[in-house]
Amino acid sequence: EADIARVEAIVEELKHLEGPLLPILHAVKAEFGFVPDSAKPVIAKALNLSRAEVHGVVSFYHDFKDHPSGRHVLKLCRAEACQSMGCEPLADKIKAKLGIDWHETTADGAVTLEPVFCLGLCAQAPAAMLDGELHARLDEHCLEGLITEARQ
Ligand code: FES
Repeated sequence: EADIARVEAIVEELKHLEGPLLPILHAVKAEFGFVPDSAKPVIAKALNLSRAEVHGVVSFYHDFKDHPSGRHVLKLCRAEACQSMGCEPLADKIKAKLGIDWHETTADGAVTLEPVFCLGLCAQAPAAMLDGELHARLDEHCLEGLITEARQ
């Protein structure tokens, strides 16, 4: 159960914005790590939306997916420069190593894998971001090292 009071406070703070739904969802996600089901009716009511509308937006934007992410989030760049530097085979190896696909979390809840499209490190591709920190010129070995370190 999410802390409803916290959700209400966020809604109260942001509902005056023009187009408040996305900022509210972002703030809720920042607070809880995801958008909990119990937050949706609170948001819907405050914004005069149906629950289905809120739910639709949450499902549409992968960022708000309504289940918790792992303790660590690894984002691998899949845009052009990184493609040309072999990010896909790298991703395949990491997926196999973690036993998950894109948008999934390892069984121990440690790592969630997400694709991103350009991290601005194209000259140093392939690039990734682990828990908000950028890493460039990745190969399988250093990526595995990062993950191992994060899991400790
Ligand atoms: Fe990967 Fe720009 S294409 S960082």
